[in-house]
Amino acid sequence: MHNGTTITQFIIEEQRHIQGASGDFTSLLNDIITAIKVISNVVNKGALIGVMGSAESENVQGETQKELDVITNEIFIKSNEWAGHLCAMASEEMDDIYPIPAQYPRGKYLLVFDPLDGSSNVDVNISVGTIFSVLRCQGESDAPSAQDFMQPGTQQVCAGYALYGSSTMLVLTSGHGVNGFTLDRDIGEFILTHPNMTIPEDTKEFAINASNQRFWEKPVQRYVEEALAGKTGPRAKDFNMRWVASMVAEVHRILMRGGIFMYPKDTKDPTRAGKLRLLYEANPMSFIVEQAGGASSTGRERILDVQPDGLHQRVPVILGSRNEVETVISYHKA
Ligand code: AHG
Ligand code: MN
Ligand code: MN
Repeated sequence: MHNGTTITQFIIEEQRHIQGASGDFTSLLNDIITAIKVISNVVNKGALIGVMGSAESENVQGETQKELDVITNEIFIKSNEWAGHLCAMASEEMDDIYPIPAQYPRGKYLLVFDPLDGSSNVDVNISVGTIFSVLRCQGESDAPSAQDFMQPGTQQVCAGYALYGSSTMLVLTSGHGVNGFTLDRDIGEFILTHPNMTIPEDTKEFAINASNQRFWEKPVQRYVEEALAGKTGPRAKDFNMRWVASMVAEVHRILMRGGIFMYPKDTKDPTRAGKLRLLYEANPMSFIVEQAGGASSTGRERILDVQPDGLHQRVPVILGSRNEVETVISYHKA
């Protein structure tokens, strides 16, 4: 028998502190949690249920979709479309927005998500995740458009990620700190295991895909070069390096023990500002990181202040331990 706080209990208690809260948001979160439990189960079964292949299709960004990208996208939609809290959804795996079908009532929120982050890792049994962000619908709920989603990250009502790792965890913020929950499969509930998560201000650990080094801009070249120089270099400390290729896993590590994660602007593909997508990767993760006391920037601008101009827009991402992110920002100004 568990004796911890369940996530349901936690969000209902949080709702009690918000004057005039209707329970809509709490109920929306419950549907998101259900989707995450279903995805956790599917990802965990893996090859046993024959879902590990390629879907032989491409998403709007020209990336080959895995079967699991398509399946997890469908799970998120089915779990969240019926209850009447949402006006529309948008996802990495859909070219355009998904207005709530006419047979269901429409509500005041927008949901944006990356149903399976790090999906190149599923075949090799390395951690993957789900990232989501909740916004308020700006326009008329009977005619939602992509324009309604063009809100800077500061407008997010809530953001979270699920990490399907050695255990399944859900990490959430609604602007009052960050809390982490672990799925207890025996009872099918997330239990509060990591209250008030905070990121240490300093770190000796960086994460970047070094195979892109020749394409990086000068400030990032400088930062990594100095880190690699170690104790006898200008930073006067030895660094450690990690690269999982699942942003969720990297951000989770940073929340647990500090670090800096960079997917910076590079010249590999001059049509792209970066690799990661603003609305469903950079913004929710930046909200969480800032709420945990960390920082998140493009190198030139706070990510949460970036005004979006496209559903699948990409941005450079530099996030994690505050002092280290500030160092990289200062190199962009030098
Ligand atoms: P997705 O699987 O949702 O497309 O995202 C993968 C992202 C991110 O999670 C990760 O940090 C990065 O891509 C890895 O990129 P590289 O393969 O270029 O290292
Ligand atoms: Mn992703
Ligand atoms: Mn994805």
